[in-house]
Amino acid sequence: MYAPNTKINPTPIILGIESSCDETAAAVICGRELLSSQIISSATEQAKYGGVVPEIASRAHTEAVDEVVNRALKEAGITANKLGAVAVTYGAGLLGALLVGLSFAKGLAYSLNVPLIGVNHIRGHLAAAYLVDKDLKPPFVTLLASGGHTAVLHTRSYLDFKVLGGTCDDAAGEAFDKVARVLGLSYPGGANVERLAREGQNTVKLPAALVKNSTRMQFSYSGLKTAVINAVHNAEQRGEDLSYADVACSFQHAAVDPLVKKTVECAKTLGVDVVTAGGGVIANGYLRDTLTKACQKAGIRCVLPEKKFCTDNAAMIAAEGLTQYLAGNFATLGLNACAQIPLIGG
Ligand code: KG4
Ligand code: ZN
Repeated sequence: MYAPNTKINPTPIILGIESSCDETAAAVICGRELLSSQIISSATEQAKYGGVVPEIASRAHTEAVDEVVNRALKEAGITANKLGAVAVTYGAGLLGALLVGLSFAKGLAYSLNVPLIGVNHIRGHLAAAYLVDKDLKPPFVTLLASGGHTAVLHTRSYLDFKVLGGTCDDAAGEAFDKVARVLGLSYPGGANVERLAREGQNTVKLPAALVKNSTRMQFSYSGLKTAVINAVHNAEQRGEDLSYADVACSFQHAAVDPLVKKTVECAKTLGVDVVTAGGGVIANGYLRDTLTKACQKAGIRCVLPEKKFCTDNAAMIAAEGLTQYLAGNFATLGLNACAQIPLIGG
């Protein structure tokens, strides 16, 4: 029978497991101290197909999950019997991929008789900031920019978020990926657009990713994406020279500047003096620089996860696992994988 001890230890050792997309990852934390973080990625295999093939992802997770957990325990210098809980991504993501990590986590939690914690992947991205500063406490304003979501949030407490505004169509990361394809760049697209953008200038006129004259704060990436496609096709048809590096750089400005501007505006309006951020797009160097500078100018502290903890990893899952652990939110062995869950649902 599975009846783990759920008495709260203020600094538990938690193993995090992540398998929602193409990275199989495991990490160990002790309180907010990160002891290890390991990733085995199937991205190179996926790149051959231009994106993530769910079946390949599930099979790759099956082959990698035991190995990645062993590596994480070894790097942390502990054996599994020192673990106080196992935290695992249960959604959102590819169902077959999620089930691999989830089933492994259940087996491990059961065999060790320790609590199982189900983590919302996006809440994991948001919790990555807690690994940067061990004393970081809400309230703050948080910019979420990932492959599936784009929003500015008011993080009112560890468990209470208010969405201040978001995208009305594509997510920022999705737009980076689509623009990468238009520019002939390989998967994963976002980092390749950034690389190309470094060689270019912001000289191509493109619409900013913001809905104008809206009473609500709304981002929009579909018009920007279409404008990039049109710029490339028109130049091709007219036989004109168009620097793809300039397109990448101009796109990056149009995609990122409104996110930075609105995040800082929200913090100022709410009188909040800390800004955090999470999600794969936060690995973007231009976004990091502009957000850091805009916050500095406004006298706001900006706490950004290290680049490697912006894209998918298990350290962030362990970090959110700690929040859920301290709140006493434990799962049963009946916890199921969910392809879609509300943005910030627990
Ligand atoms: O946050 P994430 O894991 O996605 C979701 O959980 O939904 O991040 C993946 C996204 C992809 O869309 C990828 O293109 C984008 O993050 N990304 C970047 C960079 N690195 C990853 N976008 C812009 N610049 C980067 N350096
Ligand atoms: Zn992610």
